[in-house]
Amino acid sequence: MIYLDNAATSWPKPPAVYETLGSFLQRAGANPGRSAHRMALEASRAVEETRRKLARLIGLSQPERIVFTLNATDALNLGIKGVLSPNDHVVTTVMEHNSVRRPLRALEAIGVTTTKVSADPEGFVAPEQIKAALRPNTRLVVVTHASNVNGAVQPIREIADVVHAHGALLLVDAAQTIGALPFSIEALGADLLAFGGHKALMGPPGTGALVLAPWLDPAELSPIREGGTGINSEEDVQPRELPARYEAGTVNTVGLAALGAALDFLFEVGIDRIAAHERALTARLIDGLSDIPGVRVLAPRDPVHRVAVVSFLIDGWEPVDIGTVLDQAFGIACRTGLHCAPEACQALGAFPGGTVRFSPGFFTTEEEIDQAIAAVAELARTPLQLR
Ligand SMILES: Cc1ncc(COP(=O)(O)O)c(C=O)c1O
Repeated sequence: MIYLDNAATSWPKPPAVYETLGSFLQRAGANPGRSAHRMALEASRAVEETRRKLARLIGLSQPERIVFTLNATDALNLGIKGVLSPNDHVVTTVMEHNSVRRPLRALEAIGVTTTKVSADPEGFVAPEQIKAALRPNTRLVVVTHASNVNGAVQPIREIADVVHAHGALLLVDAAQTIGALPFSIEALGADLLAFGGHKALMGPPGTGALVLAPWLDPAELSPIREGGTGINSEEDVQPRELPARYEAGTVNTVGLAALGAALDFLFEVGIDRIAAHERALTARLIDGLSDIPGVRVLAPRDPVHRVAVVSFLIDGWEPVDIGTVLDQAFGIACRTGLHCAPEACQALGAFPGGTVRFSPGFFTTEEEIDQAIAAVAELARTPLQLR
């Protein structure tokens, strides 16, 4: 199988991830941060080591500012619902995933209002437009770092400057960039950074994090879930200490240990090398697809401001049918449809059918890209009559 669905979740994973998933529960399956016996300490050590590795990855000197979550969606829900109060205003963009759209929509019920900034035909959002949308009561701006539909990387630093000059907070959805692009939270300028561990970080599902920037006062972010933390148990209020304040309940110890193994792999290979490999594959893919008559490629032209996520359409074909034929006749795994980002598809002129999305990863080869291009060329020559 040619796996081109890494934007949904990366596959395969580094071997150490499978090994850790298979062995950790037997070796250290106690509850971390609760009991004081050796196996519980071993479980805690694994979780905290992963926290330290993530901190190193994004240049953060206080690992306790990394709050573990179930996935990017969970982290975004904490960032959005933990900051916003009734009558606050939020600025966001049409390029967002439903994990931003839907929590914001749900908050309309408590009087939160949202302004959505549009994107240009390549999916880029202009910082000036964010600035123009800010209001006196704008508390939060939520922007995706890179689109999961066409890979466009937004000018986050410039957006951060605009947001901070206004006194608002910036929440960045880094689901598609963490592990794929090298960056520090400081250089990015995000006050809050949300991501999952299962995409370019190459960890397992059920892992993710929300990061509080070193300069952010934790009082700005309320917990959205209360419960046991293993500390201050005599009190009936959530502890103030980080990360316990936001980490009620037992974390995904096994998944986080495996994420730690994935991070070891990333450090060994180097994010720069991963980014360079994926950039080369993306350019090859875009060039190859663009040469096929009847194929429309939806990807930014500038190779610097994009990640390895490429959408396309074929004249005479519905995206969903392309996905089925690619899977069944060519053994190519991809994603089709709206990619949980309907307004992004609309902005790119691919609504309501959505797109076909190829997302290579670090383990994808040039030969696989060439085979995928050849398969698309074959489909483009034979308009489908399945229906
Ligand atoms: C841009 C973006 N944000 C958020 C998410 C949600 O990620 P998760 O499945 O880890 O909750 C995704 C996943 O596809 C995404 O691409």
